[in-house]
Amino acid sequence: MCGIVGYIGERDIKNRLIEGLRELEYRGYDSAGIAVMQDGRIESFKAVGKLLNLEEKTKNFSTDGHGVGIGHTRWATHGKPTELNAHPHMGEYSYVVHNGIIENYREIKGMLEKEGITFLSQTDTEVIVHLFEKEAEREDDLFSAFKATIELLDGAYAVLLVTKKAPDTIFFARKGSPMIIGRNSRGEIFFASSDAPLIGEAEEVSYMKDGTVGFVTSETIHTEGDELQFVPLAGDKMTAQKGGYRFFMEKEIYEQYDVMSDTMIGRVLDRDIHFEEIDEEFLKGISRIKLCACGTSYHAALTSSYLFERLSKIPVNVEIASEFRYKEPLLTDDTLFIVISQSGETADTLEALKMAKEAGLKTLAICNVDNSSIVRLADASILTRAGIEKGVASTKAFATQVMVLWMLSLYFAKKRGSLSEERIQEEIKYMNYVPKVLQKSLEVHEKCKRLSKRYLHGHGFFFIGRDIFFPLALEGALKLKEISYLHAEGYPAGEMKHGPIALADAELFTIALMPKTLLYDKTKSNVEELSARDSTILSISPEMFDLADDFILTHPHNHPMLEFFEMMIVEQLLAMEIAIRLGNDVDMPRNLAKSVTVE
Ligand code: M6R
Repeated sequence: MCGIVGYIGERDIKNRLIEGLRELEYRGYDSAGIAVMQDGRIESFKAVGKLLNLEEKTKNFSTDGHGVGIGHTRWATHGKPTELNAHPHMGEYSYVVHNGIIENYREIKGMLEKEGITFLSQTDTEVIVHLFEKEAEREDDLFSAFKATIELLDGAYAVLLVTKKAPDTIFFARKGSPMIIGRNSRGEIFFASSDAPLIGEAEEVSYMKDGTVGFVTSETIHTEGDELQFVPLAGDKMTAQKGGYRFFMEKEIYEQYDVMSDTMIGRVLDRDIHFEEIDEEFLKGISRIKLCACGTSYHAALTSSYLFERLSKIPVNVEIASEFRYKEPLLTDDTLFIVISQSGETADTLEALKMAKEAGLKTLAICNVDNSSIVRLADASILTRAGIEKGVASTKAFATQVMVLWMLSLYFAKKRGSLSEERIQEEIKYMNYVPKVLQKSLEVHEKCKRLSKRYLHGHGFFFIGRDIFFPLALEGALKLKEISYLHAEGYPAGEMKHGPIALADAELFTIALMPKTLLYDKTKSNVEELSARDSTILSISPEMFDLADDFILTHPHNHPMLEFFEMMIVEQLLAMEIAIRLGNDVDMPRNLAKSVTVE
């Protein structure tokens, strides 16, 4: 995903920008560029490929004394990874870098072209700089022109803009794509897409809210609307990277709102689903899907099996990679073999992928790490764009895997004509709502914290749910097991009476996932059966349930997947708070590794 940096200060600007971009390399990119402004002159450099190429191009360039700069790593969405398409994009006298997607860029471009403006690139971003210069002709001052420009943009953006007409200024705006501003006592100002480039440079930072628009000079930071809230940024990398959270897991739970927008950008379009990684040709001859993964990724696969069958009307089966390898599976070449892995290095999943390839199957990887072994081996791969996940207990990687799989099932539905256009549009409408569902809920977090002290003993936990809430129950139980070391199981709610109900007593904790949009009454009956046998019930539902001992109230939604994502966060927070109360190392639980490269 694209990365943005900005700098105002006395030190060599090029070095600051390139070092900042290096810290953002993990986001993935295919070209990079910078624009440096000093004494009213702007120099810009761009290069395709790795940062080394940009360094090579700029090796004879340096600055001395005060100046301003912006930089960008581009991950191509509109237009190929070429130098012309790389950022910064220039107008007559201004330069812009942008992360996100301007959804109405075609209309704006058409309008500007009619006014005689020539575009050099195929990107959506270039409209911003031309629009700004057009507005600057009309408006009294440059900030008004910048604000007017931003108001005309639909979509997601983090934008930095510099112009020769305001030599000591960076204009900035954020909506839907992350951006942080930092400052220090030397009077330096920094911008970045994540805190990594700011560590050791900025002393305090502000995580900009959506809708922030402003400008900064060496003298002043000005924003419209909410004031920026600055918080200290720890100097040591480890503490600083946690961004004020107690654990990486906690930070990663809260990051889900931002990363989900990244996952969707360029894929969930206004009225369509698009994957540049695959096309119709790729799906030719496919009449079934086999999904294969381990652990949390397996739960994402299982969730999607309901979606693929329901939406794409394609038969699906799901395999645990370590089982699949030794069962002498029967593989037919009309099967698309999809592997799912956060790390892309899980030995069992990698070996299963090799088997499928050897059997001549088409293979697709859904993965968070570009250039990992699984990505390199699969015929095609779709990156989940969750950013680095440090907590051993997977959170944001799971959320983005499920999202990609939901998008993929809709993509298949469209290509196979298995859903009406109206239904497709409805699914897209709800997909666009997911980031909002993932927004911080301090109230729910507080409730999980309070409940955690009641759920520390007992002889075990059953997470129960039906349909897609069954894999979510499995995931809730796995999260709790991994970090609290308490025994937990995930079970289909309707299966409890076929055996496990024998365990029911007051010391058995049942965490009941009770969505209103899917099989509510059925799940309720199953929970009643457990309550009648004295099990302690914690219900997670938008509806109060009088037989529950405790409840966490979720928001009412009109789509099961929205309920799914909200309940997922509740499970993550609950597991984390129980583990914290038990004094466990939440990020590095005993006996576990982040990447399991042994079979
Ligand atoms: O990197 P992968 O997604 O392939 O890893 C698979 C499992 O090892 C992983 O999901 C594991 O279960 C997590 N620790 C769960 O939180």
